[in-house]
Amino acid sequence: MLAIIQHNFTGIGGLTVSQRPQPHLTAEGVLIAMETLPVVPSDWHKETNLHATAEQAAQLPRVIGIGGVGTVIAVGQHRDQQLLNQRVLVMHPQGSYQEVICNTNPDWLFPLPDTLSNEAAATLTAGPGTALVLANFIKQHPSDQIMMTGANSVIGLILCQLLGPAYPGLTPIVSPASQAYFHHILPDFPCYLANHVKTTTGRTLLVDIAGSPRLLQQLSATQHPAEIVSIALQSTELTVPFTFVHENFDPLIYQHFIQDVTEQKLQLPIDRSFTFMDTQLAQHYAKDTHSRGRVLVDLRH
Ligand SMILES: NC(=O)c1ccc[n+]([C@@H]2O[C@H](COP(=O)([O-])OP(=O)(O)OC[C@H]3O[C@@H](n4cnc5c(N)ncnc54)[C@H](OP(=O)(O)O)[C@@H]3O)[C@@H](O)[C@H]2O)c1
Repeated sequence: MLAIIQHNFTGIGGLTVSQRPQPHLTAEGVLIAMETLPVVPSDWHKETNLHATAEQAAQLPRVIGIGGVGTVIAVGQHRDQQLLNQRVLVMHPQGSYQEVICNTNPDWLFPLPDTLSNEAAATLTAGPGTALVLANFIKQHPSDQIMMTGANSVIGLILCQLLGPAYPGLTPIVSPASQAYFHHILPDFPCYLANHVKTTTGRTLLVDIAGSPRLLQQLSATQHPAEIVSIALQSTELTVPFTFVHENFDPLIYQHFIQDVTEQKLQLPIDRSFTFMDTQLAQHYAKDTHSRGRVLVDLRH
């Protein structure tokens, strides 16, 4: 069985496609043939930095990836036998970039409705859950202005939808290269460039998704935010009250999002797919180009 392995912290170039033994089916396990995997920023962050995420650092070598979509090919005797042949979204922080994984936690496995595409389901990994954490933070910290960096990101576009276009004070910020894309995806929402946003006198909450210290510095100098909340930076040198937040996995929230996307109440931005053998290329593309939706790796081609 093939897997994408991280051996060191030299970055994307340090990944290899290597043979690994296929996991054995246990009584508590479900074997899944993986089909569609998301490419997320934490992938390449973890490939250069041992402490890139709030999660406990993994031992090297390790299989990369935290989840994906596949089809169940074998079910252990203590698991629900009806799972056989079902298409599922699976969380697998031990490494999802392998042809077959063994899921042992029923809470991390989500059977998918026929009408939900592999691509949309894979995009549910490391996106909507984090957007929901930010939406809750925003609601719990009433402010006159909600200034959001990286509004065209996958998480930014989902957060905008969770809040709605009429959310008081919502001020999505994008780079000049991403303004047309943002308008195309969310035509009912306003969006601004950092240089053009007007200074207001009320309380501003700066919601950081882009993770650019330079942009935060620029906005803090002109907007004087009362508070910053970030999902992308764990600290800042600015003297503004700062909170880093991260997603705490909750299966009920994932079930809820599966339903919302299936019923088209939530639109997930999806860019393009690469083959499994081109995983390095996929990461370079996602890292080095402006965000135009989730990039995916597809094992079926
Ligand atoms: N805390 C958590 O639990 C958690 C969970 C998931 C993700 N994250 C983090 O959340 C962030 C967003 O994730 P995502 O998947 O939504 O990312 P994404 O779709 O790749 O989007 C990245 C965004 O950052 C902007 N950006 C990047 N560098 C910038 C710079 N120097 N100046 C201005 N804008 C810049 C991009 O703007 P352009 O497209 O215009 O270049 C884009 O809007 C990532 O940093 C990720 O690691 C955190």
